[in-house]
Amino acid sequence: MYSIELMVMEHDNILLFIEAVRNACCGILEGKEVDTEDFEKMIQFARNYADKHHHGKEEQVLFLEMTEHLGKIGENLIQHGMLIEHDYGRLHISDLEASLNLYKEDPQTIYKLGIIEGAAGYANLLTRHIDKENEVVYKYAEKSLAPEILESVDSRVRDFEKEAEQQKIQEKYLGILKDLREKYCAN
Ligand SMILES: [Fe+2]
Ligand SMILES: [Fe+2]
Repeated sequence: MYSIELMVMEHDNILLFIEAVRNACCGILEGKEVDTEDFEKMIQFARNYADKHHHGKEEQVLFLEMTEHLGKIGENLIQHGMLIEHDYGRLHISDLEASLNLYKEDPQTIYKLGIIEGAAGYANLLTRHIDKENEVVYKYAEKSLAPEILESVDSRVRDFEKEAEQQKIQEKYLGILKDLREKYCAN
């Protein structure tokens, strides 16, 4: 199914991003300077690609249908599971941003720790979250939603993608991903 394949491909991109984030954190632990511009790029990618572009489709289209049509199981799985994790992800990124701003003003070790906590916490959360969606949530959606709902999901996701393409969202953030990987995943 088009939408699920697209969103699994986006998960692959987010996992490539997470690898770069983790490597940047390891670099700091090994004594490298904090590259504040790169961490700002990471915040942008997490907010605009992983959250707005990817979670946007989940929240506004697929998960909306699952909550509406799959009864108590759908509601629990989405509202008390996936959506809460999206919120925790946002919280980690806000924490990362706050520590980064403090560090830029006054480069103390405690703020460096905050940067690592925010970034690595996000990386860990999203890795587990993506695994659950790939292995459980998406499969359950494909198996349980009625064919006409799945068709409607595909059609709305196509529109979402088209609009994002016009705004060059994919091009911009996959470019940022490429830059981050060249710098942090060169081996
Ligand atoms: Fe999600
Ligand atoms: Fe996802």
